[in-house]
Amino acid sequence: MEDLERKVQAAGSRLKVIALSGASNLTGYRPDLKAISRLAEATGALLFVDAAQLAPHRPIDMARDGIGALAFSAHKLYAPFGVGALVLPRSVLNRAPVNPGGGSIDMITDRSIVWAPIDERHQSGTWNAAGIVALGASCETMSNAGWSAVLHHERALVAYSVERLSSVPGLTLRVPAECYLAEDRIGTFPFSFDGYHPFLLAAILEHEYGIEVRAGTICNHRLVRRWLAAGDAQQDDIECQIKAGNRLAPYGIVRASLGIQSTHEDLDRLCNALTSIRTHGPKLEYKPLPQHECYDVA
Ligand SMILES: Cc1ncc(COP(=O)(O)O)c(C=O)c1O
Repeated sequence: MEDLERKVQAAGSRLKVIALSGASNLTGYRPDLKAISRLAEATGALLFVDAAQLAPHRPIDMARDGIGALAFSAHKLYAPFGVGALVLPRSVLNRAPVNPGGGSIDMITDRSIVWAPIDERHQSGTWNAAGIVALGASCETMSNAGWSAVLHHERALVAYSVERLSSVPGLTLRVPAECYLAEDRIGTFPFSFDGYHPFLLAAILEHEYGIEVRAGTICNHRLVRRWLAAGDAQQDDIECQIKAGNRLAPYGIVRASLGIQSTHEDLDRLCNALTSIRTHGPKLEYKPLPQHECYDVA
């Protein structure tokens, strides 16, 4: 927060937008949006929140938290790919569209353009009707489940996950367990597992145990590098290897994450799988598929 305050002060009135993630896809950290909105307000900047990770895990009140603009993707909210939501202030929506096209213009001549009303002018082309309907249904399902039930479920499961994962031999949780217990983080757990490259471990969990995790630097290259203490020489070497076509060269972590469908049994299955992998190794033989950044069964 102090770092942000310094940067905001240095930028002064040149600052137009503060854009940040409402929740980290790696550490589960949630910045204090209300405090940051006060900083934005003091300099007349707009607070833009990327709520891709926040929306499935916490209720969002844009007015209460001083959020000026917000975006999220449907597929992280249990709806299909290819659709999402972008909420912008009227002052921005009243402008000409960035991507004009069919449906965004009511009338055009050599001399003038009359833009369509704001709800149409920024959405040119044929709308993803099925995706929009599915996103609506998904939001309704979340509302019907009730936020207090969703939050209660996640809180209990986060505490259980931290306890279970911390006790798996060879597993290093990259975010200290206390952070999950002391702060209201969303349930994402980055970890390393002794003796296994993250891509290989992800492949074993998928093929042998039916468990999906994400592996790699997952859009947080600098933080993962810091965690793994990769020096400049190692970094240079990895970059050379990647350029030479070895996309399995990078370091990384594995991330397990929770959703509303996750259960205590899922966590048990994950931890039992990891213990079994540590004791017996993989049951199948894997071959690297460098072009896909993953391993497949040989
Ligand atoms: C915070 C955040 N923003 C944006 C994205 C990207 O969303 P999309 O998959 O819709 O491109 C992700 C995906 O992981 C994310 O975690």
